[in-house]
Amino acid sequence: MSTATNAPGRQVFVSRTAFILAAIGSAIGLGNIWRFPYVAYSSGGGAFIVPYLIALLTAGIPLLFMVYAIGHRARSSAPLAYRDMHPAAEPIGWFKVGIATCIGIYYAVIVGWAVSYTGFSVTRAWGDDPEGFFIGEYLQQNGEAGLSGDFVPGVLIPLIAVWIVCLAILFAGVQAGIARFSKVFVPLLIVLFAALVVRALFLPGALEGLDALFAPDWAALTSPTVWVAAYGQIFFSLSIMFGIMLTYASYLKRKTNLTGSGLVVGFANSGFEMLAGVGVFAALGFMAHTANVGVDEVVSNGVGLAFIAFPTIISEMPGGAIFGVLFFLSLIFAGLTSLVSIIQVPISAIADKTGWSERTSTVVVGGLMAIISILIMPTATGLSVLDTIDAFTNNLGIVGVALTAIIAVGWLLVGLPKLRDHLNSVSSFKLGPVWIICVSVVTPIVLGFMLIQQIMVYAQEGYEGYPTWHLLLFGWGLIAALAYLSYLVSIIPWPRKSLDRVARARAEFEAEAGGAPSPTTAPTGGEEA
Ligand code: ALA
Repeated sequence: MSTATNAPGRQVFVSRTAFILAAIGSAIGLGNIWRFPYVAYSSGGGAFIVPYLIALLTAGIPLLFMVYAIGHRARSSAPLAYRDMHPAAEPIGWFKVGIATCIGIYYAVIVGWAVSYTGFSVTRAWGDDPEGFFIGEYLQQNGEAGLSGDFVPGVLIPLIAVWIVCLAILFAGVQAGIARFSKVFVPLLIVLFAALVVRALFLPGALEGLDALFAPDWAALTSPTVWVAAYGQIFFSLSIMFGIMLTYASYLKRKTNLTGSGLVVGFANSGFEMLAGVGVFAALGFMAHTANVGVDEVVSNGVGLAFIAFPTIISEMPGGAIFGVLFFLSLIFAGLTSLVSIIQVPISAIADKTGWSERTSTVVVGGLMAIISILIMPTATGLSVLDTIDAFTNNLGIVGVALTAIIAVGWLLVGLPKLRDHLNSVSSFKLGPVWIICVSVVTPIVLGFMLIQQIMVYAQEGYEGYPTWHLLLFGWGLIAALAYLSYLVSIIPWPRKSLDRVARARAEFEAEAGGAPSPTTAPTGGEEA
């Protein structure tokens, strides 16, 4: 394992390319492949590009810069980095750690399903009924809510394999594990997925699919929900506001180009998302063509798209087995590179809080997460638990903590000028008042609206018809418990070693900035240095 360090006791990515590939690997995940195409289709089609690009430029990339700066400036995990801004801000970091922990616990099982389905693509194990096979035979769901002790071995085994691979990568460390893995699997994912898209484009009906995706519905732009959908997609897809990008940036060397890297990551992620939209809708166009129905009758999202619609497509097309293997391998690679980044968030935070090495923390924290995931997810009620945790952590948890973080950093601590100076002192692409306005005005307005709207929907309509006690336990209760735990953990003192490292990192940056001309004078959107 590489022990290359730059801040004492902290691992580093040895090069900027290593960091960029890891960050792209984190950003490109299930959200790009199975979420974006449907969100775009149902939110104005071709017209969605307008709110999507505005969300990317006014919130996605500006917030990516903000979290990069917070992590890099303190060279620490999320809670310690927020504490470094102000001790009262520490719970924000812990809440992000909690969200990442919950997401990691269920995200792993989806990667596990994709492992099984790579094999099923060859045998077409689902026969004539992909839906019945997935829910009944493969997941063996009993249709009930809550927890169950009935394990499903067909799901348990791939899930264990996913956790072993993931923890082995994380145990190897940031450079020798995460960076090396991303260096191989991110390019491989792009090649595999591009091959899949090219194949899909030659299927009969592909053009009708693309037509359905891109036909612009300009009237949709007057609907606030379309704008909210665009911002929501950008947050999840870019892996921002649940601690990942902050943690990855904390492993960067002192001298690095933060904003330049952020632009590469942001645009690469969106580029992949567009590619996924084309591939998925070309395939759905084929499915509609074969069934002789409109594309609107076959579109689906998330689990339904990957594990029900795609198996149908695989069964119907010539060479379906190869297409299926390409699709599910893409899900595995996209999922694994995101999963390691998600799990690194609690690993890094607990290492900082306890003074353990990150390897010890990987064994303890990663091991505990794996045990919880293995106990809950591959059971006869796993899907309902996954679905509820996914909805509440993403739609309430991430949005809520993003809003809190921006209000705390931008408004209460007036910390944005400090972060801007930090970014400008190390980066090529300089930031000015436009960045501050995007982060402190535009983003909180949209996030506040999103949060209120989502709370009202869940409070009035519940979620997916699950019983109230189930939503209280895995939805509302989980979010409340995370908030309370975040506060409790913040009371525990930090080890000297971690505090010293932050102080040293800050002193180094301040000493360097000392003689340099003030970076705050740089123009907005300035030139390459
Ligand atoms: N950004 C990751 C995804 O899209 C978490 O799945």
